[in-house]
Amino acid sequence: MARREKTETPVEQLSERQAKAEHARLQAEIAEHDRRYYQEDAPTVSDAAYDALRQRYGAIEARFPQLRTLDSLTQRVGAAPSARFAKVRHSLPMLSLDNAFTQEDVADFVGRIRRFLRLPDDEELTFLAEPKIDGLSMSLRYERGELITGATRGDGVEGEDVTANVRTLEDVPKRLDGKHIPAICEVRGEVYMTKRAFLALNKRQAETGGQIFANPRNSAAGSLRQKDPSITASRPLGFFAYAWGEMSEMPANTQSGMVKWFASCGFKTNPLAKTCRSLDALLKFHSEIEAQRATLDYDIDGVVYKLDRIDWQERLGFVSRTPRWAIAHKFPAEKATTVVRDIEIQIGRTGFLTPVAKLDPVTVGGVVVQNATLHNAEEIARLDVRIGDTVTIQRAGDVIPQVLGVIPDKRPRGAKPYEFPKKCPCPLHTEVVREIIAGGAQGARFHCTGEFACPYQTIEHLKHFVSRRAFDIDGLGDKQIELFYEREWIKDPADIFTLEERNRKIKLEEVEGFGETSVRNLFNAIAARREIALERFIYALGIRHVGETTAIALARGYGSWPAFHDACLKLARGDDEARQEMDALDQIGDTVIESLRDYFGEAHNRRRIERLAAQVKIRDAEKPRRDSPIAGKTVVFTGTLERMTRDEAKASAERLGAKVSGSVSKKTDYVVAGPGAGSKLADAKKLGVTVLTEDEWAKLVG
Ligand code: IVH
Repeated sequence: MARREKTETPVEQLSERQAKAEHARLQAEIAEHDRRYYQEDAPTVSDAAYDALRQRYGAIEARFPQLRTLDSLTQRVGAAPSARFAKVRHSLPMLSLDNAFTQEDVADFVGRIRRFLRLPDDEELTFLAEPKIDGLSMSLRYERGELITGATRGDGVEGEDVTANVRTLEDVPKRLDGKHIPAICEVRGEVYMTKRAFLALNKRQAETGGQIFANPRNSAAGSLRQKDPSITASRPLGFFAYAWGEMSEMPANTQSGMVKWFASCGFKTNPLAKTCRSLDALLKFHSEIEAQRATLDYDIDGVVYKLDRIDWQERLGFVSRTPRWAIAHKFPAEKATTVVRDIEIQIGRTGFLTPVAKLDPVTVGGVVVQNATLHNAEEIARLDVRIGDTVTIQRAGDVIPQVLGVIPDKRPRGAKPYEFPKKCPCPLHTEVVREIIAGGAQGARFHCTGEFACPYQTIEHLKHFVSRRAFDIDGLGDKQIELFYEREWIKDPADIFTLEERNRKIKLEEVEGFGETSVRNLFNAIAARREIALERFIYALGIRHVGETTAIALARGYGSWPAFHDACLKLARGDDEARQEMDALDQIGDTVIESLRDYFGEAHNRRRIERLAAQVKIRDAEKPRRDSPIAGKTVVFTGTLERMTRDEAKASAERLGAKVSGSVSKKTDYVVAGPGAGSKLADAKKLGVTVLTEDEWAKLVG
């Protein structure tokens, strides 16, 4: 995304302090996108924009490896499973694929394999090439030929148990066909929805007021993760088998042999898969499949090449979360041209003005697009988009399409350059102000200075406040917030908790759409949230740059609301000690500190918070224990952990009072090394640091 690079300091020029802040900010932003993508099936950025965030995040870590801590996103796959389904631990992790975007990337991939295996140039390499289905991956466990569990990928280590739902899929055999079926077989593949079924489903959903899905992938995920399997059964989902997990015996010794075996057991396998014996053959496959892409009835976003010999796959192994023996060769995003009829300014919770192009409806990759983001004023100026212009737009399996550029020949006569409003379109008509980004530079975005006086921002704030990861108040959704705000029943968060008291006057049960029961349920839901964990409370405040991860870091750092509140008030008064104390916290940098300082510097914010804090009980963050055998020790985890995820290991160590670090030094007390441990284990040995296996660690911490 060129527009980001334009306004962001290049990674090579970041100071360590800026890098730390930027890394934390990106981590929170990416985690939020992951959550929307994996847990809500409702992403809000394009794949390209997401890739750009991840790329910058990775580049920062490459330059400052000390930032690559255990909870770094580069150490994980996907997002943690959602809370609605039981968790299933995969017997072997479900990994991801590295991406190739150019022919050179593919040539590098083949070259790396040759070098790693020390193969001569004339040794033939055989690959199985197949379409990369844009669905969701699934692991099916069969014991003695019977389907036992179906699990989503989740974070790669633990997924969701969706057995009852996958059982309703026609393409998933309940029993494997064949004489010699190994006692344990884990068959992995992709669940997808055909484009036709997706369009029909959305049509039905629109008629019945149900959820509208952005693309077939999201509708497949949403359909599979239903609490009621009969809903899944009513949605046409397909499954292609292409990989495996635990196998008590291997029925074949090549990738293509395994796929044939899957087919013999009763699975559908992709009919377009092909064995390729050279780089040219791989690239030819890529262009052939790309040419067929639009005619296929399922979404694909590239092709996958897998080295055919399984013994070689085993020798090649994995690098962090991706195999060395396979790669996804992606297709460029889908494009279309259309006309910009208007440019509308939208205002979000944090007051940023986002220009949106209102377009003549156009179909891009099977989805009708009517809006495209223009990001910010600079982007409009860079592209020189004018109302009436014909533009190229791009949609990469995403929700918010982007405007790529203008077709100058088609510009209507008299079209005037777009002038970004100087006043916010909100009822306050405040002067808009350019944002200041890390390091004090001017950013590309403008924001409304109305804050809580701006009704648009206040409504967005309130929606955030009651959202699932914040106060999570059932029955208080977007519609209700808008209504209650409009009627002046809820103007700030504290009002939510006095609503019941005031209901004698309001008489909510008499309002259309409400009844005695729903009003009672709503008040019960509000009462149930009068007690709240510190990290949720901090997150719910909706302070700029304070996402969930940052809120957790702050809650852990200060332990209690009075301690955190006091520190923020001091910070706002310019107390340097308070600032340094905050800066010393893990994952907290200048951007967050400045944002907290500004927020608590405003008298109306302080009053709002006081009123709210008087209504709720804020639970202290879990305190690290002082009496455990690892209290005060520094621990490094490396390699694959088998009993728990990295996050769990880190959380439990921290609960027991240990500090978890990402790199080994003389100060490290223990290195817990699982299979695949590399340089950190070597460092530990060199420095004479105690190395424990996962079992020894488990014994030590009890
Ligand atoms: S192989 C060890 N083959 O792409 C890697 N994955 O970006 C196992 N996907 O999580 C994956 N089509 O959900 C493989 N033919 C295919 C695929 C495929 C789609 C998905 C899968 C995976 C993701 C990685």
